[in-house]
Amino acid sequence: MDYLQIQKAQKLHGEIKISGAKNAALPLIAMSILAKNIVTIKNLPHVADIKTLLKLLSNLGAECSSSWENDTTTIDTSTLNQTKATYDIVKTMRASILVLGPILARFGHCEVSLPGGCAIGQRPVDLHLKALEQMGAVINIEAGYIHAIAPNGLKGCNIIFDKITVTGTANIVMAAALASGVTTITNAAREPEVVQLCEILNASGVKIDGIATAVLTIHGTAGELLDIEPFSVIPDRIEAGTYLCAAAITRSELTLKGANAKHLGAVLSKLQEMGSKFTITDDSITIHPSEVIKHVKIVTQEYPAFPTDMQAQFLALATQADGTSIIEERLFENRFMHVSELQRMGADISLNGNVATVNGHSKLSGTDVMATDLRASSALVLAGLVADGITNVHRIYHLDRGYDSLEKKLQNVGADISRLKE
Ligand code: UD1
Repeated sequence: MDYLQIQKAQKLHGEIKISGAKNAALPLIAMSILAKNIVTIKNLPHVADIKTLLKLLSNLGAECSSSWENDTTTIDTSTLNQTKATYDIVKTMRASILVLGPILARFGHCEVSLPGGCAIGQRPVDLHLKALEQMGAVINIEAGYIHAIAPNGLKGCNIIFDKITVTGTANIVMAAALASGVTTITNAAREPEVVQLCEILNASGVKIDGIATAVLTIHGTAGELLDIEPFSVIPDRIEAGTYLCAAAITRSELTLKGANAKHLGAVLSKLQEMGSKFTITDDSITIHPSEVIKHVKIVTQEYPAFPTDMQAQFLALATQADGTSIIEERLFENRFMHVSELQRMGADISLNGNVATVNGHSKLSGTDVMATDLRASSALVLAGLVADGITNVHRIYHLDRGYDSLEKKLQNVGADISRLKE
């Protein structure tokens, strides 16, 4: 197993190129199931989750081919001849559930292993299933698998999500794309990743009204497959946010190339409150951090509010702020696993339910720490950049699921970080 070894950083400097967004790429890859042509995707991030979903599609019979030199992946789902997403893949990546909507819509039946629990919370998929049932699917859970059938095809209907769900919205939008009639989704997710999926479907013959709003109206094609033009995945706002935190915590000026500031409103606004300034262009963000980091109050919520996927990184940053920061996690019930590791490094954090109180500024010391989930891993890397001595971050397979070449990108801007074998 690999681990990352980090020495306290002096200032970082230079540019980091932001990769394509994992959370946009996953539904877009699943979307290829709806296509009649070979789908060409650019700017896929080189991360484990993307490889996992491509493997799942290959297992189902699709032909996937990636040329990393040309930055192009093609997916041909005309050869798809299986409709079962098996446990061995789903257990490694919950987002595998994204194939349920499109496979069911195209083939009238689908089996997907139930994803099960997750380090950050229960993460049920009941809202996905309830919505598909409303569209006419018959769903049974047997022996750990979701069995869904819709022999007469899915039918458009009115769906009101009890909670805003990102992959739930993407799944139902894809199912509705091939359904007969009109589907309305109320309380839809508005994340930029969902917006890109809707925009591409809309450009491929599925009329969608209300894109980027909480009410989506999808005019299904009644089973006709789509002709999808080549497209490029939007930049990863969470990767960008993580490097902005790396700059802020080390008080370094960094430029993020390819980042889209429009997707980072809440993150930039909190960094500004903490003292950073920015120079923004159409495709770059330069952060000018202040020497003194101010404390902050953060509540995680659905987009466009502050993202839960940036909570751990801001918590690490808050350990270096002057004064007491309050960070409230509203989306996942167990998303503070990084707290105990940060405490081991010397952070002064107290947890009360879903609220973390962070007393800064703490002097952190490098030690061996364990990554517990994807974003928690990057929080530990950030802490390692300012901790005295050496920090070893173990179990970085979590980090590799979603960060493209993190250590190389940080090395290029002057960090002393290396990947070693246990
Ligand atoms: C997506 C992101 C993840 C991010 C999360 C919240 C992807 C691949 N992952 O995850 O990085 O942290 O959004 O922004 O895009 N819920 C239910 N029933 C359901 C579905 C969700 O109760 O059927 C609950 C969840 O437990 C959670 C909340 O709704 O408390 C939001 O979850 P959801 O938006 O679905 O998260 P994901 O799509 O899994």
